[in-house]
Amino acid sequence: MQTVDSLDPLRRAIESLRRDGPVALVPTMGALHEGHLTLVREARSRAARVVVSIFVNPLQFGAGEDLDAYPRQLERDCALLEAEGVDLVWAPRGDVMYPAGFATNISVSGVSEGFCGASRPRHFDGVATVVCKLFNQVRPDTALFGEKDWQQLAVIRRMARDLDLTRPFADAIIGVPTVREADGLAMSSRNAYLGREEREQAAVLPRAMKTAIAAIESGGDVAASLAALEQALLAGGFAALDYAALADAESLAPLTTRGDRPMRLLVAARIGKARLIDNMAVRPR
Ligand code: PAF
Repeated sequence: MQTVDSLDPLRRAIESLRRDGPVALVPTMGALHEGHLTLVREARSRAARVVVSIFVNPLQFGAGEDLDAYPRQLERDCALLEAEGVDLVWAPRGDVMYPAGFATNISVSGVSEGFCGASRPRHFDGVATVVCKLFNQVRPDTALFGEKDWQQLAVIRRMARDLDLTRPFADAIIGVPTVREADGLAMSSRNAYLGREEREQAAVLPRAMKTAIAAIESGGDVAASLAALEQALLAGGFAALDYAALADAESLAPLTTRGDRPMRLLVAARIGKARLIDNMAVRPR
């Protein structure tokens, strides 16, 4: 496994990998966990060669967010990736990704505006900008992202369609189902911010979501089901709910009744120092 941090060696390495067949990219910010490794395994099953990028992207962190505290552990991450048979780690230096004078912003309207976009202004501009750069740098045949960040996936797919990206084609952007801990909590690098008691309490999130989904799927009122979800979170130790909503799975348009197209229940809530997000499918009528 090779690790590179600047563009010339990256281009040479990609050129050589491409001779062996299709290349898959798994973009990450490091602090890898089983969720990322699942993406890597899926990438290996879909392509001859696998590239993983590791870059803590300052553009997607707002003022007062956890950019400085975000866990950085490149050596450990590389060891995990080597054991998974990854071919290349692209870990660009900050000045390589954003050279002096960098002045471009990619902003995807619509899907990026509600939910996390409302409480984290410019977050998805930062994600779209860095992912577009990663796609241009690596030019992968396919790219894999966790479904845990459902809105992020929708934003990236929209960007790839709108910008006519050919590597990867929008259809080759693959969402991989969320990997969960034994108690149902979605895996996330930010779970590391939870103390022991908070970590135990956090499991109320997936449980309350399942209860709300069961209520909605059996014909219950959507607003009442979401209100009950909020109550369950607050009673279970969460400090605040950022949002809980039923939305169209693709456009992310909020829904007040159960629809006849694929839908997601999307939630963001705060516990201790962490802001946890999760989403689950809701069966159409
Ligand atoms: O999901 C993440 O880890 C990041 O948002 C991504 C896609 C690597 C862009 O920085």
